[in-house]
Amino acid sequence: MRFTRRAAVAVIGVAALLTASACGSSDDGGDGGSGSKKVEVFTWWADGGEKAGLDGLVAQFGTSCAGQEFVNGAVAGGAGANAKQVLASRLQQNDPPDTFQAHAGAELQDYILAGQVQDISADYDTWGLKTAFPAGLIQNLTVDGKIYSVPANIHRANVVWSNKKVVADAGITSDPTDLAGFIADLDKVKAKGIAAPLAIGKDWTQLMLFESVLITDLGAEKFTGLWKGTTPWDGADVTKAINDFKTLLTYTNKDRDALDWTDAEKLVMDGKAAYQLMGDWEAADLDAKKFADYAWFTFPGNGTTFQWLADSFVLPKGAKNVEGTKCWLKTVGSADGQKAFNTKKGSIPARTDASPADYPKYQQAAMADWKSATQVPSCAHGSACSQGWQGAANSALGAFSTNQDVAGLQKALAAAAAQFVKK
Ligand code: GAL
Repeated sequence: MRFTRRAAVAVIGVAALLTASACGSSDDGGDGGSGSKKVEVFTWWADGGEKAGLDGLVAQFGTSCAGQEFVNGAVAGGAGANAKQVLASRLQQNDPPDTFQAHAGAELQDYILAGQVQDISADYDTWGLKTAFPAGLIQNLTVDGKIYSVPANIHRANVVWSNKKVVADAGITSDPTDLAGFIADLDKVKAKGIAAPLAIGKDWTQLMLFESVLITDLGAEKFTGLWKGTTPWDGADVTKAINDFKTLLTYTNKDRDALDWTDAEKLVMDGKAAYQLMGDWEAADLDAKKFADYAWFTFPGNGTTFQWLADSFVLPKGAKNVEGTKCWLKTVGSADGQKAFNTKKGSIPARTDASPADYPKYQQAAMADWKSATQVPSCAHGSACSQGWQGAANSALGAFSTNQDVAGLQKALAAAAAQFVKK
C-alpha cells in the first residue's frame, strides 16, 4: 500500500517537473541550438545547508564564468530520492540538463556504462585536476582509463549528531564508543521521558543507520567486501547486525517511514530526540538553520572508519551549452569553487590543497580524520553500489521497518547482492 502510494506520488512529481522543464525550454525560444549561455545545473540541493553550498558555488561560477547564466534545476528530496527519478526520465527522453550531480563510484559508473555522460579526461589535464585530487578518488571516477566527472567534495556518512542539552539533561558526559554504550545512553534519554531518542526518517536514512551497524559488527574490510562480493550476506555476522539494527529501531520515532532526513533532524533540534545518524551535510544544515547547540561523534563501534561519498558533476551527452558547462565543471574543481561550496556544505574539499583554517570547526575535524582514517564506501549514497542495488536495499529496509522480519531482510539483501554485484 505504502509502496503504491509513493510510486504514484513520484509519477505525478515526474510529470509535473517534465511539464515545468518543457515550459522552461519554450521560454528560451526552444533553445537546443548553439549559442545558449544558460547552464542548467541539476541537483537535489534545494534548501538549508545544501542550498547554501550550491549558492556558494553559483557565486563563484558568476565570477569565473562571466557571460554564462546559472539555471537552477534542483529537485528537492534528500539523497536525490525524487531527483534521480526525474533525471532518469529526462535522460531517457534525450532531454539532459547541462550538468547533473552524481556520486563518485558505482553510481557514476551506471551513467558511464549507459553512455549518458562524456569523457572529460582531456579537460582534467587542461585544468590540472589529475594532481589536485587524491589518487584513490581519481580511481573511483575512472572507467577504462577515462574520467567523466569533477568531484565537488568528500562527505562522511557515519556520523551521529546530537542535541547537547538533551544529552546533558540525561546525565551523559561522554560519547559512546560501542553499541552497548550507545544503547545504555539511549535508555538514559528515554528515562527522561523522551520516547524516541534516536530520530530517523524513511528507507535510505534507515539504510544509512544499518550500514553503520554493519561497519561496527563486521569491521571495515568485511563491510567493504559486502559490496565487492567477497563478504557473504548470509553470514552470522550480518544476522547479528540486523538484530542490532532492529534493537536500535525500537528507540526511533514510529512515523519514520514518512519523514525525510530534515524532518528527523527537526526532532533533534526541537529536543524531541537526542540523536540522529546522518551524513555531515547535517552540520551545514544545522548551521544554516542557526541551531548551534549540537555535537557529533562517529557511529559507536566504527572506530576510525570514515564512510565516504563524493558529489561530482558531469557533462551529459547532448548537453546544450558545452562551453558553459565546462566552465561550471572547471569552477567545481577549482580551489576557489571548492572553498565556496564546502565551507557551506558540511563536506570537505576533494582537492588536497585546501587550508583547514578556512573551514568551520566540524570540517576541520573531518579533514584531520580523513587523512588517517580507514575509508569505506556508502551504498545509500552511491559510492559502494549501483542505483539498482541501492533501490533494492532501500526497498528491503523499508519493508523491514514494518515487518521486522530479520531472516526476510537478510534474504532480500543477499538476493540483491547476487543480482547486482559485479562478477
Ligand atoms: C547525498 C548527497 C549530499 C546530500 C545528501 C542529502 O546523497 O551526496 O550532498 O545532499 O544526499 O540530501
